[in-house]
Amino acid sequence: MSSSAPDSAVPDSAALTNYQTEIYLRGLGGSTPGLPADLTRLEELARAKLESGPYGYVAGGAGTGATMRANRSAFDAWRIVPRMLRETTTRRLARTVLGTELPAPVLLAPVGVLSIVHPEGELAVARAAAELGVPMVLSTAASHTIEEVAAVAPDAPRWYQLYWPTEDAVTISLLDRARRAGYSTLVVTLDTWTLGYRPLDLDEAYLPFLRGVGTAIPFSDPAFRAGLAATPEDDLMAAVGRWVPMFTGTALRWEKLPLLRAHWDGPIVLKGIQHPADAVRAVQAGMEGIVVSNHGGRQIDGAVGALDTLPGIVAAVEGRAAVLFDSGVRGGADVVKALALGADAVLLARPYVYGLALGGRDGVRHVLRSLVTELDVTLGLSGYADVAELTPEALVRA
Ligand SMILES: Cc1cc2nc3c(=O)[nH]c(=O)nc-3n(C[C@H](O)[C@H](O)[C@H](O)COP(=O)(O)O)c2cc1C
Repeated sequence: MSSSAPDSAVPDSAALTNYQTEIYLRGLGGSTPGLPADLTRLEELARAKLESGPYGYVAGGAGTGATMRANRSAFDAWRIVPRMLRETTTRRLARTVLGTELPAPVLLAPVGVLSIVHPEGELAVARAAAELGVPMVLSTAASHTIEEVAAVAPDAPRWYQLYWPTEDAVTISLLDRARRAGYSTLVVTLDTWTLGYRPLDLDEAYLPFLRGVGTAIPFSDPAFRAGLAATPEDDLMAAVGRWVPMFTGTALRWEKLPLLRAHWDGPIVLKGIQHPADAVRAVQAGMEGIVVSNHGGRQIDGAVGALDTLPGIVAAVEGRAAVLFDSGVRGGADVVKALALGADAVLLARPYVYGLALGGRDGVRHVLRSLVTELDVTLGLSGYADVAELTPEALVRA
């Protein structure tokens, strides 16, 4: 489903890829970036800065954390085999996915409740993403409204992620708001219809939604408010009591997908696909895309590493839908591997949340520029001039 954009429409990748040169040149004047270039180091720094509740909410996974480890070892099990003496002096990272032009095959994953790590939350993320032309996928569990996030970056590309309410009138209202606020693609998250078993959150008895955090979108929604005797501003706990069972605890069903199609005229992407048969079912249901994801290992302990499921899913989809990927992306080489295994683009999640926690908007910029600069350098040094040239032949099993 993805195709390369014509040259006239190629978004500028330079703001993302010139970071390495910029850092060394600034070093001549005595300055250093302040945050590490190795994005795996951000988690430890965020741990030192954040309270244990917010830190655990971001870093924690389901059960013993085996799925989070499997996500990383799935990347480690593939190794890039570089090719020499090819013309890769200038690289092309841009591509178009589902009508959205990307300066690099990277989007910011939907992450809820970002105000727990930084007061500006999603607004800071939207500003950083817009500055670099990278689309942001806004979560239904955001700490700012659909309209507020759109307003800080009115011209920026943006997608909306739905946590699918049990009340159809509320669902329809959310879709209507997202469309009117300029969100082009709908991402429907399937794997979090109820909360995973997360020991770090349980140990702190920490669930932000119960405190009315990460509820800005429903609490500002007319269809949601219509079902309340008092406004959320007047009776927070009644609003929490209406919202929590509406977006968590009831299993979603394939049979309900036509409701979304009837009320959304743009592309629809199903997030959380891990089995080739589910990917095929999504295609048969007319979905334009999927995100191969296990929610960063936050839902099921002992599950398959997300990257291990990617090749089988790409084969089953046979190009009939866009295939995006997340869960475990920590550096530019990971992006090369996911693309070589058939992903059209990746979603970046925890690293940008740590960047936000440590440096607000500038921290998110640092993370995005670091990731894409490393992608660009790794692509060229591996012998490829265009992300579109990557195939499984670029890799070998370790
Ligand atoms: C703190 C946190 C909150 C998240 N909130 C959402 C969300 O609201 N909606 C959603 O679809 N996915 C959510 N995710 C999952 C991410 O979109 C993504 O699938 C996952 O984090 C990828 O794993 P990684 O961060 O380890 O690479 C969340 C992840 C984290 C870490």
